[in-house]
Amino acid sequence: CGIVGYIGNNRAEDVLVDGLKKLEYRGYDSAGVAIFDEGEIKVRKYKGRMANLEEHLSKEDIKGSLGIGHTRWATHGEPSDRNSHPHTNVSGSIALIHNGILENYMQLKEWLIEMKGDIFKSETDTEVIAHLIDHYYEGDLLDAVFTAVDKMEGAYALGVICKDEPDKIVAVRKDSPLIVGLGEDANYIASDIPALLKYTKNMYLIENGETVLLEKDKVTIYNELRQEVKRDVFEVTWDAQAAEKEGYEHFMIKEINEQPKGVHDTLHRRLNKEEKIELDGIKLTKEDLDRINKVYIVACGTAYHAGLVGKYAIEKFAKIPVDVAVASEFRYSDPFIDENTLFIAVSQSGETLDTLAALREAKRKGARIMSVVNVVGSSVARESDDVFYTWAGPEIAVASTKAYTTQLVSMYLIALNMADTKGSISQERYTEIVNELKTMPLKIENIVKNDEDLQKLADEQFNKENAFYIGRGLDVCVASEGSLKLKEISYIHSEAIAAGELKHGTIALIEEGRLVIALATQDRLYDKMLSNIQEVRARGAYVIGVAKEGNKEIEKTADKVIYIPDTMDELTPILSVVPLQLLSYYIAVARGCDVDKPKNLAKSVTVE
Ligand code: G6P
Repeated sequence: CGIVGYIGNNRAEDVLVDGLKKLEYRGYDSAGVAIFDEGEIKVRKYKGRMANLEEHLSKEDIKGSLGIGHTRWATHGEPSDRNSHPHTNVSGSIALIHNGILENYMQLKEWLIEMKGDIFKSETDTEVIAHLIDHYYEGDLLDAVFTAVDKMEGAYALGVICKDEPDKIVAVRKDSPLIVGLGEDANYIASDIPALLKYTKNMYLIENGETVLLEKDKVTIYNELRQEVKRDVFEVTWDAQAAEKEGYEHFMIKEINEQPKGVHDTLHRRLNKEEKIELDGIKLTKEDLDRINKVYIVACGTAYHAGLVGKYAIEKFAKIPVDVAVASEFRYSDPFIDENTLFIAVSQSGETLDTLAALREAKRKGARIMSVVNVVGSSVARESDDVFYTWAGPEIAVASTKAYTTQLVSMYLIALNMADTKGSISQERYTEIVNELKTMPLKIENIVKNDEDLQKLADEQFNKENAFYIGRGLDVCVASEGSLKLKEISYIHSEAIAAGELKHGTIALIEEGRLVIALATQDRLYDKMLSNIQEVRARGAYVIGVAKEGNKEIEKTADKVIYIPDTMDELTPILSVVPLQLLSYYIAVARGCDVDKPKNLAKSVTVE
């Protein structure tokens, strides 16, 4: 979910609607606002996209200059007008927005019903918080929020307003992201930076457990002990345009096109004059590395797929055993962690709660915590010992593209840097790989600029209902990412599988016309892949091969071949994923899907 709040002299509705549109990628099951206007709190909330809310708002004229807004990814209660935020207490004198999950809401709800006979209008956990704050309200909203929060378990970023105090917003953060924007005679809250960039570049990053009192000309931050805390202003360096579509039809295609720049920036900011990798946020010494006998890479979704490549790179270059785990499973699997373990979290947003929870568990058990994160100042970054920032810039489309390729480059840089510090790689090899990495931006550009074949293929294949991605070695990691891209935006059922494993089950699903995308970029596995392609072709599959330029053999077996520029086997994932992203994109467009906002998904999932 995404939350936003405004207090100032202008029309709150305009700021809230604008902010919510920027936050819509965090969830779009419903949207709503609560604005203080003409002595009352006016709540307007509707199931569906922002456009629906906007249309309703355009029918009236709400002038108030204080308000809160919410865009929802449903957890408790189906998407409906009733379950949409903001929620209020019985009398409607308190309204609030919430991102997160209140875990003990059932107990609190029963308690409120029993004690006061409260009647609830929705099935949400959030409405319970509104009632709870009302219960403790004795003329001071800040005080009531403090007391209510003491009773609450779970994760929440809240924005609360009160009819009797029309000059303040109270916001709280626990395990869900929250920032404060500082304007002139105006202050803001939001779930993340892009929502506020149009209005201010000066922010406060709110820490876990903090409560904020916003007035028009003043922001006060309190810790859990209700003591005032001082915070440095965080100045954002992105410009607002970076979060706009700039003429592209979708954010996703814009972001695919931004990959050469993202990869270039991620790489070149880490190369010193001697062309050696220098990682400013990572303080691992040779002694540290000699001690580390195990690495866990933990992440979700696309970031997990970057972790799979990270395992390969760290094991190959730095010679340390690596396990990669999906964050939601990691915590419950009794991982072997001690002070000799390095835990690496990979996350675009740096706010994914599964990843954050896994990180905290690893920290508790004594691991050294490193993270690869895109959003500066995010929770994952702040809770890590060592941070590596990807320089992808803001990623808006729900399906991740440029964050993934920059995560790949990051994993290679971290692995090479570890290997160099440990002395487990020769200088010639190190230089050879760094030099090859430097060619990546141009090679990616080459693929992106010549995508006519991919568009044509998409137009031919878009009505398929199943797809299989196969590969060997590093190609399996890319197959997983390619498959995820296709299913999440086009709703075509798809699955990735190690090509050698096909014959042990999945091949039963291959029949006339089945779409198979076969990655064959690994020189030493090339012949084996050609045999696997033969196997599926023999059963009627339509095979799109992905191979390195020059490897023409594959044309004899595949129906269609997509070539990527030649590169060393170790680095192919940075290139081979790009045609797969484009293919998914064009297929989804051909199917008329909402590419940037696929159904049921959200970009930043801040619930477990
Ligand atoms: C969500 C998004 C995915 C993303 C995953 C992890 O599920 O839809 O695109 O890969 O979260 O997000 P993170 O911000 O931690 O990389």
